[in-house]
Amino acid sequence: MRSPVVATSALNLHLQSGKTPLHILKDIEFAIAPGEVVAVVGPSGSGKTSLLMVLGGLEQATNGSVSVAGTTISGRSEDELAMFRRDNLGILFQNFHLIPSMTALENVALALEIAETGQSHAQIMEAATAALTAVGLGDRLDHRPSALSGGEQQRVGLARAIVNRPNLLLADEPTGNLDQDTGARVIEMMFALARDNGTAVFLITHDPALARRADRVLSMNHGQLSAVTQSPPA
Ligand SMILES: Nc1ncnc2c1ncn2[C@@H]1O[C@H](COP(=O)(O)OP(=O)(O)OP(=O)(O)O)[C@@H](O)[C@H]1O
Ligand SMILES: [Mg+2]
Repeated sequence: MRSPVVATSALNLHLQSGKTPLHILKDIEFAIAPGEVVAVVGPSGSGKTSLLMVLGGLEQATNGSVSVAGTTISGRSEDELAMFRRDNLGILFQNFHLIPSMTALENVALALEIAETGQSHAQIMEAATAALTAVGLGDRLDHRPSALSGGEQQRVGLARAIVNRPNLLLADEPTGNLDQDTGARVIEMMFALARDNGTAVFLITHDPALARRADRVLSMNHGQLSAVTQSPPA
């Protein structure tokens, strides 16, 4: 296998809820190869989003190691983590995290502006427009998030997450608010990014049909991650 994009070892996350200590992630060991799509399934509250936050450097693991694109995440400063995310990651959050005062186009363009790729303003606008058109929102460029439906906001989030062609795409239930056709289109875009750009995809989903399309399925249960043996397609 080529060097994995993601590799974790003995990864644990403990959080505190009031006075109660919680063991959220337990000895997580896994890797994702370049171009590989890994689906993560599991019950609500099992720790899927928590693992995504650790992989994105948004939550510090209590112990163990996480490396993404050859960078060890633990022990980095906030500035270093911000640069690491800018250079390597696309993140589609479960609740989108769009900037309310910005239009759809500005939300997507921002990801490119922050990345300082040396592109001109016109090139950035063109790329952001293309990404939004690809998710079916070419006629919603000037809408602020409050003037978009939940599924439309989700697609703006996806356009923003992939416009940089990241090494790693972290997606939290990317089709949760979408009808079947729109969901299929969005999924196709993620698979295309894996295939054409070598992006490693960490895909949290409750949709069994989507999970079946992934290269590999992992199941989270009470903070423990295990492999799922897939039955071959009928
Ligand atoms: N900041 C926090 N402090 C304490 N506990 C937390 C915190 N964030 C999450 N938890 C707890 O950690 C557990 C795992 O949460 P997580 O969001 O990772 O679940 P999930 O698998 O993504 O669930 P869902 O499918 O509902 O999105 C939950 O029991 C949750 O209540
Ligand atoms: Mg979650």
